[in-house]
Amino acid sequence: MIRVAPSILSADFTELGSEIQSIRNAGGDWVHFDVMDGSFVPNITVGIPVLESVRKHTDLFIDVHLMIVEPQKLAAEFCRAGADLVTVHFEAASEENILAAIGIIRGCGKKVGISVRPGTPAEVLEKFIPLVDLVLVMTVEPGFGGQGFLYDMLDKISAVREMIDRQHAECFLEVDGGINGDTAKLVREHGADVFVAGSYFFKAADRAGAVLELRNA
Ligand code: DX5
Ligand code: ZN
Repeated sequence: MIRVAPSILSADFTELGSEIQSIRNAGGDWVHFDVMDGSFVPNITVGIPVLESVRKHTDLFIDVHLMIVEPQKLAAEFCRAGADLVTVHFEAASEENILAAIGIIRGCGKKVGISVRPGTPAEVLEKFIPLVDLVLVMTVEPGFGGQGFLYDMLDKISAVREMIDRQHAECFLEVDGGINGDTAKLVREHGADVFVAGSYFFKAADRAGAVLELRNA
């Protein structure tokens, strides 16, 4: 089953409540919540207080994408603030600290994901797959919405699909960056099952139509 996860990075932050309501009204599945620290990526977005407010406002599943260094330091706070799933980046800390972050998120009773930047090979994910609920393959360089899809990532998506299936793992395969009706079809064919969409959803004149197009890609 396909999940559609609009990214609020492209929402109007002065209207965040109604923007999130529009995800539900349009038939979206998850709220994708991008956290950037100006260090792991060259941009800064929103953090724990905003997540607390969003949590009070919606019962939609909140998919937190941490683009921050040393995520083990704040992982528990994001869980407490209302995340349903917290994804950390493989490149964001030592392997020991990434494993610690995964343990902390699990210990909080939340789902956990691991993500890789475009330049990181799929092979590093092999040993994480039994430990996580989701693998996020970035299809743009993390940091900004509205970038073009990196077609080179299709082979990586296939490789991760093969790893998940071979390990019989219960694990979502999410893609994030440059997703629209056309690229959704390609990533689905390569095995992805959660589609993050920022600009494609929030700039659509017909948001319900955009969700349907992604879901049926
Ligand atoms: C980028 C973020 C994405 C971003 C995607 O680093 O992780 O979630 O919102 O935006 P689009 O869908 O516009 O490429
Ligand atoms: Zn994201």
